[in-house]
Amino acid sequence: MGPVTIRTSNLDLSIAEQTHVLGLHEVARDGTRVSLAGVGGRPELTYVATDDENSLELLGLIARDGDALRTVRSRIEDEGLRIIRANPSTPGAPDGFSFVGPEGFAYEVMLRPGAGPAQPDGFGPKRYGHFNFHPENHRSTVEFLTTVLDFRISDTIGSGGSNGYFLRCNSEHHGIAVLRGQGTFHHHAWETQSLIDLAKLGDRLHDLGRELLWAPVRHGAGQNLACYYVEHTGAVVELYADMEHIYDDDRPPVEWSDGSVWWNEWSTTTGYLPSGFREYGIAPAAAH
Ligand SMILES: [Fe+2]
Repeated sequence: MGPVTIRTSNLDLSIAEQTHVLGLHEVARDGTRVSLAGVGGRPELTYVATDDENSLELLGLIARDGDALRTVRSRIEDEGLRIIRANPSTPGAPDGFSFVGPEGFAYEVMLRPGAGPAQPDGFGPKRYGHFNFHPENHRSTVEFLTTVLDFRISDTIGSGGSNGYFLRCNSEHHGIAVLRGQGTFHHHAWETQSLIDLAKLGDRLHDLGRELLWAPVRHGAGQNLACYYVEHTGAVVELYADMEHIYDDDRPPVEWSDGSVWWNEWSTTTGYLPSGFREYGIAPAAAH
C-alpha cells in the first residue's frame, strides 16, 4: 500500500495533529505539499493545502516492480480510465502515474519510495496499512480492484457481499476495505506493534481535550484490535494491531452476515459500533 494524499484547508493543523497525536513525522515538503511517515521514514501520508473543501486527492498503491507498474498502466489505458499524471507525485518514488478510477476516486501507482529521515522522537506507528472507503456502487469498485489491480477478496460482508468486501494485496488481511456507502473516503489506518500504543493514543487525545471516536475494539473481519479518532479534515484515522495475516492464496473468503460480529467481536449480541461512525469521511477531490 502506498501513501494517501488529502487536501486540507488547514495544512499546519493537519501536520500538527498527525505529528502530536498519531506520532508521524515530516519527511518531505514541496511548497504546500507535505509528506509524513511512521517510524520507517517512507512517505505514507501527504497533505496538500487547499482553499476549497477538505477532500481526498489520491489513494497510493505500490507496484511490485517495474514490470508490474507497466502492466498496471497498460490495463488502466485498456480500461479507458483517465491518466491525470504520468510521473509520481510522491517524493522519492522512482516511477509512477496517477489515474481516475471508479466514482472519481483517483489512484497513484508507483514504485516504492525511498525512505526519508527516521522518526526522531521515538514514538509513532510502524507503518501505514490500509484504507477504508464507501463507494456508492461498491461491487463495480471491487470488480475493478480485483480484476485490474489484482487484489484478492479476504472477507465479504452481507449476503453475497451486499454490504462490503475486504481486499488484500499482501499477507495482511486487508489493504482496502470497500463498504457500500455514500461515495466517500472513510479512514486511513496505521499499524503498531504494541497494544499499549492504543492506550497511549487515547491518553494523548485526552491531554489535548479530544477523544477517541471508538475504542478499543476487536474487529471480526481482520481480527485486528483498533481505535479511531476523527482528524480535522473530517476523515477518520485508525491505529491497529494484531491483524490476521493470510499466507494461503487459495484461502476462501470468510462470509459475514449483516448484523454479525464482523464489526465488533466484543459485542456478540448487537455487533455494536458507535452511532454515526459510518457517516464520517471526505469526498474525492472534484478538480482533476
Ligand atoms: Fe480499518
